[in-house]
Amino acid sequence: MRQETFPQSGPEIATVLELRDSSCARDLYIAAVSWLDLFTAIDEQPTRLSDLCIAFDLQERPARTMLRLFESWDLLVRSGEQYVVTPQARRYLSRRSDENVVSYIATMKYKSSVREMYEVLRKGQSDTWHVERTGTTSWDDLMQTDDFATLNTQGMEERGRIFAPSLAELLDCSTDRQLLDIGGGSGVYCAHLLKRFPSLEAIVIERSPVDELARACLTQRGLLGNRASVLAGDMFVDPFPESASLHLYSHVLHNWSPAKVQYLLNKSHQHLPAGGRVAVYSCHPDDRNGRPAPAKEAEYSVLLTASYEGLCYSVSDMEAMFAKAGFVDLSYRRSICNRSLLTASKPAS
Ligand SMILES: C[S@@+](CC[C@H](N)C(=O)[O-])C[C@H]1O[C@@H](n2cnc3c(N)ncnc32)[C@H](O)[C@@H]1O
Repeated sequence: MRQETFPQSGPEIATVLELRDSSCARDLYIAAVSWLDLFTAIDEQPTRLSDLCIAFDLQERPARTMLRLFESWDLLVRSGEQYVVTPQARRYLSRRSDENVVSYIATMKYKSSVREMYEVLRKGQSDTWHVERTGTTSWDDLMQTDDFATLNTQGMEERGRIFAPSLAELLDCSTDRQLLDIGGGSGVYCAHLLKRFPSLEAIVIERSPVDELARACLTQRGLLGNRASVLAGDMFVDPFPESASLHLYSHVLHNWSPAKVQYLLNKSHQHLPAGGRVAVYSCHPDDRNGRPAPAKEAEYSVLLTASYEGLCYSVSDMEAMFAKAGFVDLSYRRSICNRSLLTASKPAS
């Protein structure tokens, strides 16, 4: 088959992906300025996350994502637990300033995607997955229907073709015999790991109908039946096989609430052998030592917060959850396009 060649002009892949991944962040900004008049309020009274949630009747998860976004954009700074407006935010976004443009921004407050972000702040959910004639708007339910699961798995497969080679560079599996790829989608990540580590085998756990799509993709890659298998199951319900020394969660944990993430990490810890490892590949803003998240990562977190139960868990968030599950030796490595790999080990004895 003839390979198409493209001239080298236009945006790089990082930008092509970011244009999608940052799509909710600006609507959240307009919602905060217009529906909450947030910067006037914080200019009048610096605030903590918990007080903000009470004052504006907001859910904690989206409110946290919002504050992290504005910190990353240099509109707020943290002083201990309190958030304070920066001089430029005071100048342009607080009604106490003669130069403010709050009403100008608020002219967009009735745009449907802005109202949707306001709903997310107040109720913790949105109508992102409004698929005609399905009778459900839950991503989790839709992923168990054929058309939606096929579109999403194809999407994850395409993204995986970009990211999986980087994961395979970062995640050393030379001492592992078997990998468990939990919520592995098409299996593209484990396929790249199998290519790099010839003695590695893999099991993908996926729910129906994605399990069938994973089988088809792994067959096309010549891996099904010899080095890879697919287990149809629910990661929240069914036991994990005990044979793997490494559990991979690629772009899985960020879909779920902290309680469900903690449940999965506890479950991995329980089913891994002593010395086994868990690897989490996603976008993890590095907020250690009080650093604000990089802007692109905070923006992607808005999309995840608005569309799923989770968010981009920061390195500190994950550190705390790993430790609670009993994992030690956390390692953080940056990948491409704002992604990163976190690994942690179950103590050897
Ligand atoms: C965002 S996709 C990530 C897929 C792949 N790991 C990747 O990085 O592209 C999340 C995957 O988790 C799977 N999933 C969701 N809930 C699950 C469950 N309860 N048990 C097993 N898999 C589940 C979905 O079917 C989906 O393929």
